[in-house]
Amino acid sequence: MSIEQAYIERHPTSRALYERASRVLPSGVTHDSRFLRPFPIYAERAEGAYKWDVDGHRLVDYVVGHGALLLGHNHPAIAAAAAAQLARGTHYGASHEHEIAWAEEVIRLVPSAEVVRFTSSGTEATLMALRLARAATGRPGVVKFERHFHGWHDYVVPASSYAGRTPPGIPAATLDSVAVVPPEIAAVEAAIDARGDIGACIVEAAGASSGQVPLPRGFLRQLQEVCNRHGIVFIMDEVVTGFRWAPGGVQQLEGVRPDLTTLAKVLAGGFPGGAVAGRRDLLEYLQFPGGGPRTEKVGHPGTFNANPLSAAAGVACLREIADGSHQRRADGLAATLRAGMNTILRELAIPGVVYGQSSAFRVHLAGDELPPAADTDGRDLPPGVLAAPFPTERARLLQLALINRGVHLFGTGGMLSSAHSEADMAHTLEAWREALLELRSQGQLENR
Ligand SMILES: Cc1ncc(COP(=O)(O)O)c(C=O)c1O
Repeated sequence: MSIEQAYIERHPTSRALYERASRVLPSGVTHDSRFLRPFPIYAERAEGAYKWDVDGHRLVDYVVGHGALLLGHNHPAIAAAAAAQLARGTHYGASHEHEIAWAEEVIRLVPSAEVVRFTSSGTEATLMALRLARAATGRPGVVKFERHFHGWHDYVVPASSYAGRTPPGIPAATLDSVAVVPPEIAAVEAAIDARGDIGACIVEAAGASSGQVPLPRGFLRQLQEVCNRHGIVFIMDEVVTGFRWAPGGVQQLEGVRPDLTTLAKVLAGGFPGGAVAGRRDLLEYLQFPGGGPRTEKVGHPGTFNANPLSAAAGVACLREIADGSHQRRADGLAATLRAGMNTILRELAIPGVVYGQSSAFRVHLAGDELPPAADTDGRDLPPGVLAAPFPTERARLLQLALINRGVHLFGTGGMLSSAHSEADMAHTLEAWREALLELRSQGQLENR
């Protein structure tokens, strides 16, 4: 039986829900990355490292709330904080103490955070960071990097996915304000010199798509230096890496000091929430005029900014992850997984590599080379290894074959939580071996 047919037969309830969804939701989904042919699975409940689908299967979850759940699903400290808050109301339409405590935790953990402004999502955080940069510099131009993802607002649409065509729905003037460059210092300098209007530079702290295309070592420090030299606001997007790569994110690990940092995901412990944190003088553009030289402020309403439920969960989460032990556990498990997956690729003589940093991993089944039978940091891959495209049909069938075996990838990779276990790694490695064999038997993979 084909992989797809087995998937269809295993998931009749998900299939029925998808047919219903397709009548009321475009393509039946509510987030582009949840789209999967012939249909995505529908989840019913989740606990720790697992989620259960509506057909009764338990899946080891490597989506972990799109990276938000460093502590796994339903961590008791977060669940208790949220339940306590739920009983006291979800929206006061008024200031509350949790938002102060939340900001205090962010400032305690993130080295460059002097003050904080909360938003409802990471997308809103990057939008606000760019606006603050423009307000402070008076220069509208932005440098962003190829394939770096910063959410879905007009200034950061990943134009590369449109292969030179204009992304539909984005005004040309907005696109023109953004210089998209490769992650090379010379290219950044060239864009700054050529345009003369660059006020902000935004970078994904671990490289494009949460480290799928890692940044060269030392790049962030060099970028900070260039931005400082040109008076450009240096924005590090730590929506994924913040609190996960380390309690203080990549900036703590690498000793880099951005002017502004954007945060979300782990920040709110599995509830909606984002933040811009950074230099006091930049965030003060949000202050109401009075006493200072400025007569106007940067506007920022937002009904659910720092809502009490997200704030209570966020405070509980940040206190729980502050000592770094959850990150160390998730990182160690991810290293075991990456090494085990590479060892199996080698044993089966299947070209490709599984690589990543921290608690993230990425599968790349392409090219001619076998990986080392070891954990692999993408920054150490020989040049060109990631250049061969991973065929989308192969990637899709891999996802289906793994779901059929109780493993839910996030696209072509995933992230771990501290709730994952060694037994989950063993289960995943067995599923990986079987899925690869199945793909090969169905002509989707060649031997080296
Ligand atoms: C690096 C990065 N920035 C920003 C965002 C946007 O965050 P949100 O989905 O909360 O709008 C994401 C989302 O995955 C992200 O990975």
